[in-house]
Parts: sequence; structure tokens; C-alpha cells
Amino acid sequence: SRIFVLNGPNLNLLGSREPEIYGHDTLDDIAGRLEDRGRELGLEIDMRQSNHEGHLVDWLHEAQATGAVAVLLNAGAFSHTSVAIHDAIKAIAVPVIEVHLSNPAAREAFRHHSYVGMAAKGTVAGFGADSYLVALQAAAGLAGK
Ligand code: DQA
Repeated sequence: SRIFVLNGPNLNLLGSREPEIYGHDTLDDIAGRLEDRGRELGLEIDMRQSNHEGHLVDWLHEAQATGAVAVLLNAGAFSHTSVAIHDAIKAIAVPVIEVHLSNPAAREAFRHHSYVGMAAKGTVAGFGADSYLVALQAAAGLAGK
């Protein structure tokens, strides 16, 4: 069983980007931890990042077309702006779990609304890199693992 882990804009800079908010782990560090936990759960991790909205839309379609069992999605700032990503989540049957390192509800007002969260199965936010691991556990539950 395969899980897509999709990451949006600026998350390629994780580790050096505002570490007081996002921590010191890089996206590769997080991928390594997800792969280790995935191995234990019997789940294969397909981790990707793009700064381009349309890539995230294409990858959501691909998750469905290739039979992924769940998607973890940290759409970054697109969470707060993208009707296209909202519609893509609605367009597929694969469950999508929204992930954030920080807790957007405790930050600026422009982060309080999420088009992703409105369409997602659920949201994990505020636990740094651990948000991804908690979301993976939830995905395992959805996949019957
Ligand atoms: C983020 C929160 C978003 O508001 C922000 O635009 C990001 C990162 C997070 O993981 O905490 O780029 O998605």
C-alpha cells in the first residue's frame, strides 16, 4: 500500500526557513522518519514537494489513478488560497489528511481559513515534524493497517 506525501511552496527550504516556527528538520529528514515508520506499518511512502500549485493538483489526480491508499498534504500557503486544490481533493476518492508543522489557528488571521481543511478527511497541525508522523498513523488506520 502506498501513501503520497505532498508538500507545497517553500517547504523545500525547511530546516533553514524560519526555524523558530518550522523547526530544524529538513524535508529529507521528515521523509526518512516517515519511511522508517511506514516500513513498520507496511506502507510505502512517496514523498514529493513543489512550489507550483498545478503540480499538487496533478499529484492528487495521480494518487487516485495509481491507487494510493491515502494522501498526506501540507499545501503550505496554498492551503489558504487554492480553490483548485480544494476541488482536486473533492474530485478524488482517496482520503486526504491535511498536515501543518505550525498551528495556523494560533497565527495570523490570513492562515485561519483552509481550503484544504474544508475538503480533507482531517487535519494534524502544530507538532512540527511529528505532525507528519501522527498523520501517517491516522492514514494507517484509514488503510486498515
Ligand atoms: C504551513 C503553514 C502555512 O500557513 C504556511 O504558509 C506554510 C507552512 C505549516 O506547515 O505550518 O508554508 O503549512
